Amino acid sequence: MRSESVERLPDINLVDPELYSSGDPFAQWQWLRANAPVYWHPPADLPGFWVLTRYEDVRTAYQDSETFSSANGILLRPADHGDDPGGGRTLALTDPPRHRQLRGLVDNWFSLRSVRALESEMRDVTRHVIDEALAGETCDFVADIAARVPLYVICSMMGVPRSDWDYLLKLTSEAFGAGDPMTQRFAHLNILGYFEELQAAKAANPADDLVSVLATASVDGTPLTPDDIILNCDNLLVGGTENTRIAAAGGMLAFLEHPEQWRMLSQDPDLLPSAVEEVLRWTSTATHIMRTAVKPTTIHGKTIEVGDRVTFWLPSANRDDAVFENPDEFDVRRKPNRHLALGFGEHFCLGSVLARAELRILYAELLRRSIRVELAGSPAKLTSIVVNGPEHLPVRLTPAAD
Ligand code: HEM
Repeated sequence: MRSESVERLPDINLVDPELYSSGDPFAQWQWLRANAPVYWHPPADLPGFWVLTRYEDVRTAYQDSETFSSANGILLRPADHGDDPGGGRTLALTDPPRHRQLRGLVDNWFSLRSVRALESEMRDVTRHVIDEALAGETCDFVADIAARVPLYVICSMMGVPRSDWDYLLKLTSEAFGAGDPMTQRFAHLNILGYFEELQAAKAANPADDLVSVLATASVDGTPLTPDDIILNCDNLLVGGTENTRIAAAGGMLAFLEHPEQWRMLSQDPDLLPSAVEEVLRWTSTATHIMRTAVKPTTIHGKTIEVGDRVTFWLPSANRDDAVFENPDEFDVRRKPNRHLALGFGEHFCLGSVLARAELRILYAELLRRSIRVELAGSPAKLTSIVVNGPEHLPVRLTPAAD
């Protein structure tokens, strides 16, 4: 059953970044789901676009990659920023058949079997990160724990020398942090510059790692160009770190706000896999994903023309009460939990198995060592329309008394 419609039309503005740091996007999404499931968001700072907020509509559109293309970008972008430079080149920004060919190059690295083989290294990395955080009186769960585990893991998979991991941690924090746009841009250029050198080194001297795979790969008999390799490396680094960082920290915050759920987990660690699914649904860190219509289509009577941008609002789909019972409750035992936090269809998250393992191992380590986590300040949320969740989460970690 879909919930009663909210009578009053709230001011709909989904592209104000402040909405996600200090407002209530859920009120707008709830109204849209009930009253305007295919909503034309008028142009403002960004060109106009369609908004899909219901679970079934998002899932159906996700499955139709013949109508909805990724090649013009998957995130809303101001018109004066021009086309996304990765368009038609990176895994995330290509359509079939090239998308499948590119994905085929790296899929194996992210399979269940490959991730299982990585688990003991992931556990070591996680223990090391937690030990360092325990050494201080307080820490920022986002920067000191949640950001570091996925960054170190993807660096290891990509063949980044260990001595450079903290350099890339610094660059990714600057590129995706709250700093000024110049610092962000400069850091991002440095990331691209780093991969330019690394891919050249791996092409000359390939090893058993992801950058070597890309640096020596061909699609349809044509080697990937250095630019294609660099952009795909960037895609893997960003994909591998940003969402996992926010989901891990957002999940911790959810546990701090629902201590009975953490207690339940500590009493029954077999609940960890379903708890991780609930963390993914609850945090839904990818706020929107965009497609461009390459064929005209109609959804709920609204005509979508060729060239129209269509956006999927994943946190909204994951709180749709037509699909989830008590969607606004955080419940680590939730079953079924077929959330869309990792996308769906052709572009379903390449790192889904890895992300799930990283979250599970992180919470498992905190539970196994009975580390008490308490808030040590006010959490701050990200000011962004792309990803949502904690930007800072000050905590105090206390090891269990021996
Ligand atoms: C909690 C963590 C994560 C979340 C919430 C998340 C979310 C998503 C979503 C929603 C998509 C679909 C994009 C679309 O539909 O266009 C996606 C794709 C992708 N993700 Fe993740 N992701 C996570 C972790 C990871 C990790 C650890 C990696 C590791 C490399 C990764 C790499 C990618 C890549 C490369 C794609 C593009 C796949 C394609 O287009 O075929 N992600 N992710």
